Amino acid sequence: MLKGLSHSWWSALAVVLVAACGCSRASDQATAPALVVAFTWQLPPGLPVPRVPSDNPMTVAKIDLGRRLFYDTRLSGNGTFACASCHQQARAFTDGRAQAIGSTGASHARGAMTLTNVAYNASLGWADPSLRTLEAQMAVPMFNEHPIELGLKGHETEVVGRFAAQPDDRARFRAAFPDDPSPVTLPNIVKAIAAFERTLVSGDSPLDRYLYRDDKSAMSAPALRGMKAFFSDRLRCGECHGSFNLSGPVDFDNAVKAGELVFHNTGLYDVDGRGAYPAIDRGLFDLTQRKTDMGRFRAPTLRNIAVTAPYMHDGSVPTLEAAVVHYARGGKPSPFRSDRVRGFLMSADEKTDLVAFLESLTDQAFLANPAFAAPGAARPAQAKAALGRPNEHGVPGKP
Ligand code: HEC
Ligand code: HEC
Repeated sequence: MLKGLSHSWWSALAVVLVAACGCSRASDQATAPALVVAFTWQLPPGLPVPRVPSDNPMTVAKIDLGRRLFYDTRLSGNGTFACASCHQQARAFTDGRAQAIGSTGASHARGAMTLTNVAYNASLGWADPSLRTLEAQMAVPMFNEHPIELGLKGHETEVVGRFAAQPDDRARFRAAFPDDPSPVTLPNIVKAIAAFERTLVSGDSPLDRYLYRDDKSAMSAPALRGMKAFFSDRLRCGECHGSFNLSGPVDFDNAVKAGELVFHNTGLYDVDGRGAYPAIDRGLFDLTQRKTDMGRFRAPTLRNIAVTAPYMHDGSVPTLEAAVVHYARGGKPSPFRSDRVRGFLMSADEKTDLVAFLESLTDQAFLANPAFAAPGAARPAQAKAALGRPNEHGVPGKP
């Protein structure tokens, strides 16, 4: 039954196979034998089954390993940073910064993106059509040198060695990759984290309860008015932030075909009177050098948007109110600005309604789901308190 859904979207179905330990060291034998437990999606109504690459099937052991690695600072060159340093659960896996700061202090031109429903994105990153899977995306934070994020380049052997040296880590890799004779490898680290990321499914916001569970009281009257405006021909928000994910193109299992990739210029900048974006980040143009790609970015999901300020690829828009005002004004007119961003007249009450709608996309259960938190850490209350603190590099709890 979907109604009494628990918020771990997956459940252990059956113990399929008991993998033999296959090793002789006493310390290894002391750890429990690996269990490969089948995985089944338990998705909230309204959300399709994510696409899973055939060479990286989901298992409970792999997801567990991936979650630990996501929170583990050993996964950076200098041992100070984890994925979770920039992707914090209480902020829907963003970091509250306008632009991210990497493990060596290098600043990024872009803000960390939410990982809400990240499994469904047809492409990954703010403006990169070449990143089509979570496995492929991970090379960016791991090996990027300009700027450095996790800073693994040149430290690969050392980092893998940190895990290979620990019996309990070795046991977890064996459980996650039982067919692999030496499972502690970088490709397996990537696979495990990607499997964990695919479980970060959010579908319990007031909007979901209203739309998919027939709970007519889930949304307030202002939020309902805001929803109508959002999808109206006048505002056109839903033309770019569309589908079940209120986002750009999605892909999922059994999708007829993956949504064609599209990137838009929303008129944030015109630094030269001819429509140029600041040289530090010109979106798709920086990859293609095609003029028409100037300032084009992917429309991100608006789910959990109320907790991911500041907004846009460079965090230049501080609040939801300011984002709405940006669209109402229509941004900077330029030859590259999308036809769908032309500005509109809006009363103060209508603005309040639209913001109320955006706030109705917050899924509190997702933000506090213990299945997504650092193993053995972060009570929901602590996670909430973390929101008030200035952005620290700290990881919320250690595995
Ligand atoms: C230094 C901060 C930082 C760290 C550490 C970091 N990320 Fe990110 N993450 C970012 C930024 C910034 C972006 C946007 C990148 C871009 O568009 O160029 C991003 C984007 C992403 C995306 C794309 C989301 C989407 O909707 O397209 C995924 C997935 C992701 N990160 C996963 C990870 C994983 C997994 C790790 C750990 C292996 C990690 N990140 C470590 C800052 C970080
Ligand atoms: C032409 C397509 C398009 C339309 C129409 C559009 N958006 Fe967007 N939206 C985008 C893109 C692309 C971005 C990212 C832009 C960037 O970072 O430079 C974005 C970003 C946002 C963000 C910030 C997201 C984040 O994670 O930082 C919010 C909030 C938002 N849009 C709300 C709206 C609302 C409300 C409307 C209707 C008034 C709307 N959008 C209309 C394409 C669109």
